[in-house]
Amino acid sequence: MTNLNVFLQRRARFLAQLDGKAAIIPAANMVPHHADCQYPFRQDSDFWYLTGFDEPEAVALFLPNRSQGEQFVLFVLPKESGIEVWNGFRCGVEDAVNNYGADVAHSIDEFSERLTDYLKGADGIAFRVGKHPKIEPLVMQVWAEQLEHLPRTGSAAMTLAPPCPLLHQLRLRKEPLEIERMREAARISAEAHELARSKVRPGMTERQIQAVIEQHFLEQGARGPAYGSIVAGGDNACILHYTENSSPLRDGELLLIDAGCSLMDYYNGDITRTFPINGRFTSEQKAIYEVVLEAQIAAIDSVVLGQNADGVHMTALRILVRGLLELGLLKGTIDSIIENDSYRHLYMHRTGHWLGLDVHDVGAYRLGDYNVELEQGMVLTVEPGLYISDRLPVPEGQPEIHNRWKGIGIRIEDDVLVDKYKPEVLSQKALKQVDALEY
Ligand code: GLY
Ligand code: MN
Ligand code: MN
Repeated sequence: MTNLNVFLQRRARFLAQLDGKAAIIPAANMVPHHADCQYPFRQDSDFWYLTGFDEPEAVALFLPNRSQGEQFVLFVLPKESGIEVWNGFRCGVEDAVNNYGADVAHSIDEFSERLTDYLKGADGIAFRVGKHPKIEPLVMQVWAEQLEHLPRTGSAAMTLAPPCPLLHQLRLRKEPLEIERMREAARISAEAHELARSKVRPGMTERQIQAVIEQHFLEQGARGPAYGSIVAGGDNACILHYTENSSPLRDGELLLIDAGCSLMDYYNGDITRTFPINGRFTSEQKAIYEVVLEAQIAAIDSVVLGQNADGVHMTALRILVRGLLELGLLKGTIDSIIENDSYRHLYMHRTGHWLGLDVHDVGAYRLGDYNVELEQGMVLTVEPGLYISDRLPVPEGQPEIHNRWKGIGIRIEDDVLVDKYKPEVLSQKALKQVDALEY
């Protein structure tokens, strides 16, 4: 478990920037799977970032309008042995203070009645609407009452604003301890990829390889997969979010694996590797693979201070398009093809995203017309790919695709830390050079 001080410092930073607004940050709730069974609990990342508290049905208040010693209030499920014997341990009110550093804690049952008092003197409310269906009506009711009484009391919260721009700007820049945890998530994820590749043989199934990967996550103490593992043989790789993982692995085809673990404290890996199932690329597979690899390496090299996510994408895209032109799979000039989106039937996603407590992590890529510049401590994925199939029409003026190319889907994805002098590839232990994939 991460140390308490880290959360304390985050809360201090958050409180200092709230500018007189009282922030209301709810925890996640349990989500039904079917009948009376539920999905494993997954904490809300904003709530986790500020509290480190891993139970459902809680709410955290951050109150710059109160004096020191009552600015961080936790509402939690109360201890109840009759329920805990079925559903597991609850921290309870007392230990929310003792173990999680809450200034004050209460039972969640007292949330509405106490909120009125806690909001007194706040200039505004920082709360994300549309995301917390159980808590939102309670917040709205308390605020409505406060506005109703405004003529007599003379003060009320006058604005309701989302806390996310502020909170997500904090989350975007990873602290040293978070970077350590992301190295660990990437290490376990990369090892799982190496292990999976060592086991793959024609005739196995995608699902068996999924089992190898996810077993490694669990053995290494991770919570499990960070997202639905994609284990996609042959043409299945051209379905970007393929998670059925139910086909046999065929001799002569490629296998694309997009999988990463989530640690107990929710830091995530997100790695993709693509390699030949029988240990030898065909010449078409190799040609496409080398284009994607060149684009990926160049895009990683472009992850430097002052660059932005769009620049990383454009670096990869220009090399992908150039490669496809050389192979006769596109025609025209690099600039005209990019300008007209004439490559989209072969490359239909962006080259990466922020990575952290969420796999597609929070934080702006653009602020109005301004592209957010890469800074030390940001982590992003770099994941160009090419997907050749019949699913999307060939744009007018572009060449029809010969059958020998079809069913090739390749993506190469690494997790990259922006650092002072050069990028650190957190996932580098998952090999990707052609000669490392052939035997
Ligand atoms: N695995 C999800 C992604 O690569 O974005
Ligand atoms: Mn990704
Ligand atoms: Mn991925």
